[in-house]
Amino acid sequence: MTQAFRPMPVALLSGDLLTDRIAIVTGAGRGIGEGIARKLAEEGATVVCADVNVNDATSVASSLGHGAIGARLDVSNSSECDALVSDVHERFGRLDILVNNAGINRDAMLHKMTDEQWQQVIAVDLSGVFFMTRAASRIMRAAGQGRIVNISSASWMGNIGQANYAAAKAGVVGLSRTAAKELARSQVTVNAICPGFIDTQMTRGIPDAIREQQVAKIPLGRMGQPADVAAVVAFLASDEAGYVTGEVINVGGGYVL
Ligand code: NAI
Repeated sequence: MTQAFRPMPVALLSGDLLTDRIAIVTGAGRGIGEGIARKLAEEGATVVCADVNVNDATSVASSLGHGAIGARLDVSNSSECDALVSDVHERFGRLDILVNNAGINRDAMLHKMTDEQWQQVIAVDLSGVFFMTRAASRIMRAAGQGRIVNISSASWMGNIGQANYAAAKAGVVGLSRTAAKELARSQVTVNAICPGFIDTQMTRGIPDAIREQQVAKIPLGRMGQPADVAAVVAFLASDEAGYVTGEVINVGGGYVL
């Protein structure tokens, strides 16, 4: 017997998945973070676009509507993270969604990698996620609700030239799963997304020949766009995903298959 057609939930179609939510997106000044901020705002959230490059953050925020604001934040600085989260809480009276997206890469073969390359990537890509998650978790625990989405990477499984980045992104997976376990009793969900090969400044510096090799490994036959990642973030940040926590979701066109 064929199953009756079930329409998608109305909220998924209507663009009001996140009405009245207050969200912080780190690294929202460009690339995937900008795409995420744009999608969350389209779904009705008020987005705090936080970036070490405050001009970019402010210009993205000014194009979003829904009361979006830009803020300067270096996620590798613990006290800046605490201050931003508490400012947002004071200003809006709540914090519903945190998207830890800010990230950098400093690629080098292991035997040539400098202490600085190692430490910079760990500081931003791993410690930054910890500082922001810790600060937000205090508010979300007390509120008995919240959504945290962490942007890891397909590279967490291991990638040549990325010992620092892979270690940080694997750390994000472990941190996300632990936070999911700790915060579940407060109805706060924590999930990680692993983008594959996405068209942003981070990947635009890669020589054409290598880009083509990478694209050839993607079963869906194209690089991803920030919007491909943003759509999954919006779902995970919504009520529709209330029973999804501790997951590690690849968004890579089948890159890791
Ligand atoms: P991007 O380099 O285009 O943008 C990164 C943004 O983060 C920039 O606006 C930058 O100013 C900001 N940022 C850098 N350091 C910061 C800090 N200390 N504090 C606050 N903001 C900071 O990079 P893209 O591609 O948009 O990457 C976003 C996230 O997605 C990163 O975590 C990256 O590791 C991850 N990712 C990207 C992939 C890709 O193919 N582009 C693949 C897998 C993961």
